[in-house]
Amino acid sequence: MNRSFPAGFLWGAATAAHQTEGNNTTSDLWPLEYAADSPFQEPSGDACDSLHRWGEDLDIVRDLGLNAYRFSLEWARIEPVRGVVSRAMLGHYRSIAEGCLERGITPVVTLNHFTVPLWFAKSGGWLSSEAPTDFARFVRSVLPVLDGVEWVCTLNEPNIVAITSALRAHKMTLEMLTSLDDVPVLPPELLASVANVARAIPKAHEAAQEVLGNLSAVRSGWTVAHLLFEGVEGAQERADALNDTLVDHFLRVSAPDGFVGVQAYSRFVVGRDEETARNLRRTQMGYEFLPDAIGRAVRATAAVIPGVPVLVTENGIATEDDDERVEYLDGALVALHDQIEAGVDVRGYLHWSLLDNYEWGSYRPKFGLVSVERESFERTVKPSAHHLGAIARANAIAR
Ligand code: BGC
Repeated sequence: MNRSFPAGFLWGAATAAHQTEGNNTTSDLWPLEYAADSPFQEPSGDACDSLHRWGEDLDIVRDLGLNAYRFSLEWARIEPVRGVVSRAMLGHYRSIAEGCLERGITPVVTLNHFTVPLWFAKSGGWLSSEAPTDFARFVRSVLPVLDGVEWVCTLNEPNIVAITSALRAHKMTLEMLTSLDDVPVLPPELLASVANVARAIPKAHEAAQEVLGNLSAVRSGWTVAHLLFEGVEGAQERADALNDTLVDHFLRVSAPDGFVGVQAYSRFVVGRDEETARNLRRTQMGYEFLPDAIGRAVRATAAVIPGVPVLVTENGIATEDDDERVEYLDGALVALHDQIEAGVDVRGYLHWSLLDNYEWGSYRPKFGLVSVERESFERTVKPSAHHLGAIARANAIAR
């Protein structure tokens, strides 16, 4: 069966600055990565050196036949000291946006992908009463980068930002939470910390949207991580409550936006028994192998905010086995196509990730369509990348 996608569908790959550029020394994470008691397994260091090799990355995207590329601006580089804007870094990101446009690639620009300037973190981060003003000032400063850019994501996964900052405050890591076979009952203090950020962070998004609203050519929104909590019999109420607090709350903020970025990798089951958990097929992240996660996430989005255009801004799998990536990709695209057939307005699919990169603490998980040699930074395109490229060129999947 040949499943065609809508005309003009965006086919691409996604990256984020801190995970690929290297030497993000003025960010909040850099000192944490190098601290003696660092919670991270290894520091990001030079990452993929995309700070210098971005042109090579864009050539790969174009040569594969993909027509879109998502990358993020690094606030910590652009405004390393509060109020001090680096013209050179603005020029750098402008070159990447132009580099996309020159190659016929639609740029999808994320204004903030997790890392923030160290000064911002020290002043209280997203919980600070100054946060919306600080972020809006940053957004105003990057407007010259966005000339000719249609798709802008203000913040990446604010729900994960809320969860990780709460976890950090309670000395827990996301890995501790998601690697458990059963989703634990979250302590009330943790949920209260999540709720604080969940209340504060939409204000920064709204402040950014106000600035971007003046640009008629820009379509902007934020991206939400779908954790897809599901309950076994008797546990559905708990799963619903988790979905509502940790996902749907953030989707509802998107209701007035030009689009919502949907991101999904797997699901988390509440109340799963040990035997089932033991027999699960898992990815390198410890997540259940679930290719149709993105279909479920798109369906869930349309149920909460019907009519808001959807862009899949991330979906992928951490695996050393590239055949497994192809299997996951095919399953994901069939599930996505089903949602389009069911009437959801899906505008594109951006795979996470273009490159094997720094997975927030470790280089071990391999999410890339392209591998990167850790010392020479040499890029090698994997068969899964060509597979996605062929689907993009055909704007269809034969399955
Ligand atoms: C994030 C990415 C991350 C990916 C895989 C998403 O939560 O936006 O930065 O690398 O998932 O874990």
